Amino acid sequence: MHEKSPPESRLAEAAAQLARACYVAVLTGAGVSAESGVPTFRDALTGLWATFDPRELATPSAFARNPKLVWDWYAERRAQVATVAPNAAHRALVDIEARVPRFLLATQNVDGLHRRAGSRALVELHGNIARVKCSACMCIAARWDEAEDALPPRCARCAAFLRPDVVWFEELLPAGALAAAEDAARECDVLLVVGTSAEVYPAAALPDTARAAGACVIEINSATTPLTARADFALRGRAGDVLPALVHAAWPAASALLSP
Ligand code: OAD
Repeated sequence: MHEKSPPESRLAEAAAQLARACYVAVLTGAGVSAESGVPTFRDALTGLWATFDPRELATPSAFARNPKLVWDWYAERRAQVATVAPNAAHRALVDIEARVPRFLLATQNVDGLHRRAGSRALVELHGNIARVKCSACMCIAARWDEAEDALPPRCARCAAFLRPDVVWFEELLPAGALAAAEDAARECDVLLVVGTSAEVYPAAALPDTARAAGACVIEINSATTPLTARADFALRGRAGDVLPALVHAAWPAASALLSP
């Protein structure tokens, strides 16, 4: 750990690792979208799970018990993320993708902001809130209407309730997305871990996979997490400040060229 060095020197050392890397992998969580106005889950006062009980909203059994409550909660969040825009942290990750030979961004976020910012090599480990699927046959619904007041809309093919295409607790992650993220963790030179509490598995295991394979793990977070002590660099601050600073420190000449 390089925690005792002054922040600028830690940033410069981490940037040097980034600039040298052939393969950069990134794991992001809700903190990367916080500056866009999307609430996180576990922040003590503002996190969604401080106000709502995930067992009542983000599990298959909650949906079975009260499908309309769950549908409406996600519909409200879907409407909310449609009103926000990517921030400087999302854009800095697009910038990194353009500068390194190999890159993969694995996000736990369901808000679609990385894609909207322009990230291309992207896997969504927990799904995407903009998509809706059937709770029985799992086909993706191209459209739906909210006609029935007391129930969620139904699948056009099998008439089961529709649900958001997000991963709930007790459910498996999309196998292809998880395999791609695990491969990237095993093969990357640098893993950036941005804005995640690093508490939810299997995503939380990716930094250990990367470290075990010899990668340099750089955490960017506004607070300490269970990962902090195991990271090679823990850069404290807001992702929208730290990531652009890291890019600028890693590629100073290129950054100067890109500036207006
Ligand atoms: P959490 O809410 O658990 O953690 C957000 C992290 O972001 C915390 O460590 C904060 O300190 C940090 N943070 C907040 N604002 C930040 C900022 N501006 N810059 C940098 N860091 C900031 O969110 P996740 O780790 O994404 O799963 O949560 C993981 C999963 O748990 C989510 O995908 C979701 C949730 O239950 C499902 O819904 C399946």
